[in-house]
Amino acid sequence: MSVRRLHPIQPDDFKFTSENKAFAKQEMKKYPAGRQASAVISLLWVAQKQNDGWVSEPAIRHVAEILSMPYIRVFEVATFYTMFNLSPVGKHFVQFCGTTPCWLRGADSIKDVCRKVIGPEKTISEDGQLSWMEVECLGACVNAPMVQINEDYYEDLDAASFEQLLDDLRNGRPTKVGPQVARQKSAPMGGQTTLLDPDLYNGKAISLPSKTDKPKAEAKKSSKPKTNFVVNATIAKKPAAPEKVSAENANDLKRISGVGPKIEGILNELGIYRFDQIASWTRENIEWVDEQLKFKGRIDREGWIEQAKKLQSEEKG
Ligand code: FES
Repeated sequence: MSVRRLHPIQPDDFKFTSENKAFAKQEMKKYPAGRQASAVISLLWVAQKQNDGWVSEPAIRHVAEILSMPYIRVFEVATFYTMFNLSPVGKHFVQFCGTTPCWLRGADSIKDVCRKVIGPEKTISEDGQLSWMEVECLGACVNAPMVQINEDYYEDLDAASFEQLLDDLRNGRPTKVGPQVARQKSAPMGGQTTLLDPDLYNGKAISLPSKTDKPKAEAKKSSKPKTNFVVNATIAKKPAAPEKVSAENANDLKRISGVGPKIEGILNELGIYRFDQIASWTRENIEWVDEQLKFKGRIDREGWIEQAKKLQSEEKG
């Protein structure tokens, strides 16, 4: 940041209006006793507003006096934050964003208009109506390029619309704040493309599961989502025992890495004898067997299902 200095020509005095004095008192009350200095930014801000958009040296002294702060401390704040103008500005003060997204979308042409219509940066037009300054991103990049004029944002500008805007302001004509194209706020050009289903706003699109919901029955009712808006209400599925088979045509389950004689014995007691059985286990089956074996997650970690599938195809092959 470059050095910011006070303007060489300063007014003699500055005092808050009674309205701003009352505002200052309210701001100071927001902080615990002895911490009133915390209100320094908001007091400088109203001082700037009262002083036609810039902070004068007497205004800094006045704020320091009200807050019982050393003058230098308030001076440091005022000169550090670029939101405080240290020199007079035009009635319509243009903060032009030249940061990358705005630049990519044509901010250079906006800057050219500033120079052509207003004059050099940080100078006031002859009629006192306009001045401009380049600033960093103002957080409205989605509608780039944009400028802030006093407290309003004007977005989706091009050279022609911006020049017209400055002319309207200069001549006291009403202006349209926000996007200067047919865009609603930050919605896509040409209109909204998402969240269009009226059911999203009348509660019909969102049905959260109750404790008694039966996931399978719900799934059967409608295989097609009603809207393009998906509510991720996870329905917990209960572990379920896999189908049992007889010992006839049993495979050697110990060929699955991780299954030893003891585990094979337990599996057999559960009616599990063959690779094709294990290969077809569902998530609920895996969780159920996991619970029986009391080793949470091992079936997945050791890849039993994949191993069983491979061994099954070897058996067939
Ligand atoms: S880059 Fe211009 S508003 Fe963000």
